[in-house]
Amino acid sequence: MTLDPARHRGRRTSRLRGVVLTVAAGTVAVGAALTLSGTADAATTLGASAAASGRYFGTAVAAYKLSDATYLGILNTEFTMVTPENEMKWDATEPAQNSFSYTNADRIVSQATSMGARVRGHALAWHQQQPSWVQSLSGTALRNAMLNHVTQVATHYRGQIYAWDVVNEAFADGGSGARRDSNLQQTGNDWIEAAFRAARAADPNAKLCYNDYNTDGQNAKSNAVYAMVQDFKSRGVPIDCVGFQSHFNAQSPVPSDYQANLQRFADLGVEVQITELDIEGSGTAQADSYARVTQACLNVTACKGITVWGIRDSDSWRASGTPLLFDGNGTKKQAYTSVLTTLNGGTEPSTPPSTPGSPSTPPPSGGACTATLSNNAWNGGFVTTVKVTAGSSALSGWSVTVTLPSGAAVTSAWNSQSSGTTGAVRFANASYNGRVTAGGSTEFGFQGTGTAPSIVPACTASLG
Ligand code: XIL
Repeated sequence: MTLDPARHRGRRTSRLRGVVLTVAAGTVAVGAALTLSGTADAATTLGASAAASGRYFGTAVAAYKLSDATYLGILNTEFTMVTPENEMKWDATEPAQNSFSYTNADRIVSQATSMGARVRGHALAWHQQQPSWVQSLSGTALRNAMLNHVTQVATHYRGQIYAWDVVNEAFADGGSGARRDSNLQQTGNDWIEAAFRAARAADPNAKLCYNDYNTDGQNAKSNAVYAMVQDFKSRGVPIDCVGFQSHFNAQSPVPSDYQANLQRFADLGVEVQITELDIEGSGTAQADSYARVTQACLNVTACKGITVWGIRDSDSWRASGTPLLFDGNGTKKQAYTSVLTTLNGGTEPSTPPSTPGSPSTPPPSGGACTATLSNNAWNGGFVTTVKVTAGSSALSGWSVTVTLPSGAAVTSAWNSQSSGTTGAVRFANASYNGRVTAGGSTEFGFQGTGTAPSIVPACTASLG
């Protein structure tokens, strides 16, 4: 891939600026780093701001939108990485067996090349968006068809892809930690490593990623992916990166341990990438969530970039949730500004106010408080008990925000003062149970109608 010299110069300048910022932030207090934001030096696009710390900022692109001037203008200006939204999927690239069709994907790759951006290839092997001929195969025939697909497509794009999502969404949701029971899985448990080996052989310089959703915090599914990556590393199966799709909304908010989860994967020796970010919502709440995700990536050295799953809200695969950084007119949203400011070092590391909690996970020392919940649920209602545990310091007060599933409502609460009854409901300590000794715990509860909450709640504390 060739870089346009003008853009190339711009990128080098950004990198140099990044060095200065890093040194400043490393030798002076955070407060001083804050004063750097808003100076004439701060980069003014997502791509340039991310480049200042050696990262990329990408978006999913649809080939048929490249003729839309507003779309193309934003793409050219803001982004340094491109993922074809659908054009490299199996149904698009091999509509009939051994007959390959690259026209739309190639258009996106040339667009990326012309703007000096790189490309994330998405996705070689996936249970979705398979052509019908694949869906009618099984066993060895399917395995061989999959390996041939990986080899052919990765060979076609050899040298042009920064990272491939070699395998997408191969683990089941829920608490089982099992592989998803797909047609590919039924060809044998080793199908994932076979796909990775074929991809490496076809394009030795592309980074090879495993990509999934609902793996953004520590849970049974991400634990299973973690174990697979650990196993691949120990046996020399080629894997270079893990992609975290990061599709968020009220039912599935940014997990409180998002950064910690990225970090534990990074500690296995893989790059981590935020691959399909979108956060439903609007205004400050949406902007804050975007800032948290951005800051989490900045705080993890091995997090090399963020890709949002589309440009304008109207381009989104879930447009009604207005989950992106530009509105339907292509105007920058509050979420855009908060991402840009965060990339420019303008916010303090926004480690979430809580650390994850589950009965088997003791709070890490230094964490202010953790909250765990247990439910007694029946058809149409539930009683939830929440245990608040102090970290290594005593608490003088606490509050826990529990996100209820849609349709659920709190009808009464005890040992706490609640605000709100639906959505994100906040429970603050009662006058008599705000003080919790270091390592100690207290409990409160509530009753409600609808489905019981299941998301690990966020806990915030005052110390002292
Ligand atoms: C989505 C696209 O955005 C839609 O246009 C398409 O109809 C369905 O797929 N996880 C993935 C992406 O890995 O490929 C999906 O993209 C969104 C969920």
